[in-house]
Amino acid sequence: MDKSQSYNDVVVRQFGIMTVVWGVVGMLVGVIIAAQLMWPELNFDLPWITFSRLRPLHTNAVIFAFGGSALFAASYYVVQRTCHVRLYAGWLAAFTFWGWNLVIVLAIITLPLGMTQSKEYAELIWPIDVLITVVWVAYGVVFFGTLAKRRVQHIYVANWFFSAYIITIAILHVVNSLAIPVTLSLSYPIYAGIVDAMVQWWYGHNAVGFFLTAGFLGIMYYFVPKQAGRPVYSYRLSVVHFWALIATYMWAGPHHLHYTSLPDWAQSVGMVFSLVLLAPSWGGMINGIMTLSGAWDKLRTDPVLKFLIVSLSFYGMSTFEGPMMSIKTVNALSHYTDWTIGHVHSGALGWVAMVTFGCMYALIPRVYGRTGMYSTKAIDLHFWIATIGIVLYVASMWIAGVMQGLMWRAVNSDGTLTFTFIESLKATYPYYAARLMGGVMFFSGALIMAWNTWKTVATSEQRVVQPVLDPA
Ligand code: HEM
Ligand code: HEM
Repeated sequence: MDKSQSYNDVVVRQFGIMTVVWGVVGMLVGVIIAAQLMWPELNFDLPWITFSRLRPLHTNAVIFAFGGSALFAASYYVVQRTCHVRLYAGWLAAFTFWGWNLVIVLAIITLPLGMTQSKEYAELIWPIDVLITVVWVAYGVVFFGTLAKRRVQHIYVANWFFSAYIITIAILHVVNSLAIPVTLSLSYPIYAGIVDAMVQWWYGHNAVGFFLTAGFLGIMYYFVPKQAGRPVYSYRLSVVHFWALIATYMWAGPHHLHYTSLPDWAQSVGMVFSLVLLAPSWGGMINGIMTLSGAWDKLRTDPVLKFLIVSLSFYGMSTFEGPMMSIKTVNALSHYTDWTIGHVHSGALGWVAMVTFGCMYALIPRVYGRTGMYSTKAIDLHFWIATIGIVLYVASMWIAGVMQGLMWRAVNSDGTLTFTFIESLKATYPYYAARLMGGVMFFSGALIMAWNTWKTVATSEQRVVQPVLDPA
């Protein structure tokens, strides 16, 4: 078959496999740091594996290596199927795979060595930032090149979400990383003081909004209807959802800087936009879940669909919780506590990781020319162990967080503090134990997935070539 008549699934397979690999690595580091919070001596007095160095390794590995690989795989898969063309510039797509994985390997080397820019989720030193920019521009060329040569007039809504995520991440990354290099591993940001903080959290919040949300909504809009075998509930709502979401997210960043030296009015703007954000977020969640209306029975038999629908439920929960936490008086209680960690992981485990698992269980067999994964039972087991793990993780952090907030603000009648900080830490230990248990369960689920993927690949005809479908 003429190459241009088939889909380029090589790069999809590569990113798909690496999603599973980096998921295992990133979550293992998560389990280690969760254990270190209980038993600090687990750093064995080695600087390279102290909590402060492993924590950014965890966040970078799960967000950019695990989540990023899933987004590359899914967007390359979806854009070809919905545009009815082969991926544009195959060699450049291959470059994005090797380039992105080089970035990850460099992160694994530099972060434990303590090389950091000290900006959360943007810790990597400037030479790696430059490499990220080059890879990302290549990604944009491949994706938009494919969109440009599409054989159907319409651009399916999933591609709108992928487009917004690719463009916005480029802008966020470049603006937040602007710095003056001093040595190979040292640079100073061009911004100072509160402006630096505001740029950082404009970046940080939109990394949540566009990397962890818009990109994964692209996945949701393709794989939920596909797996359910029904069209999306309301196409009109998906378009409204898209524009409302991207217009609102941009302004919500200041909710990370409540009660700081950021001007009060800017904090209030962030709070108001965060509250407004509830509406588009829930619009998307409802649109996804209602796609199943009339086909709910499929949830009984299809564990892949279970992953997708539960992920949407967690998306709904975390996007309800987020706006509540952005209200200044609520944030006065939640900020600096484990409540934030609970919120993060209800979004990260419940939404991002679960939708990724669902997507990979649907995508991997297809690009290996099979109708399903090697073991459906293992998918089901993964689903239950992961779901119970999330509940343990998130619920323990919620309780710990509220407890910490209340203990820190308790005062005696003479105005002195009722509790010392150490007392609040001691009271937190049982919850750290519960979180660790939840984390171990979630990680075990990822191991089951790795085994299932291994078996699926090992028992498949590896080099299947799928012909481009005629749009007619
Ligand atoms: C086995 C699964 C996981 C475990 C055990 C775990 C554990 C942890 C721990 C212990 C922390 C540090 C909390 C602290 O500083 O008090 C953390 C932070 C974080 N994790 Fe995870 N994690 C897991 C999976 C994930 C996944 C899949 C994602 C994203 C997709 C994620 C995203 C984050 C983020 C963004 C933070 C930083 C939160 C903040 O700064 O507020 N984690 N994780
Ligand atoms: C309507 C949507 C959302 C709003 C308004 C929102 C709001 C918030 C607020 C107010 C905080 C606490 C800031 C602080 O006290 O420091 C926060 C933290 C965070 N949220 Fe959300 N959230 C939303 C959805 C999500 C989702 C879906 C995810 C993950 C996929 C997520 C990930 C995070 C992370 C990683 C942090 C910790 C940032 C840090 O301090 O390192 N959020 N969010």
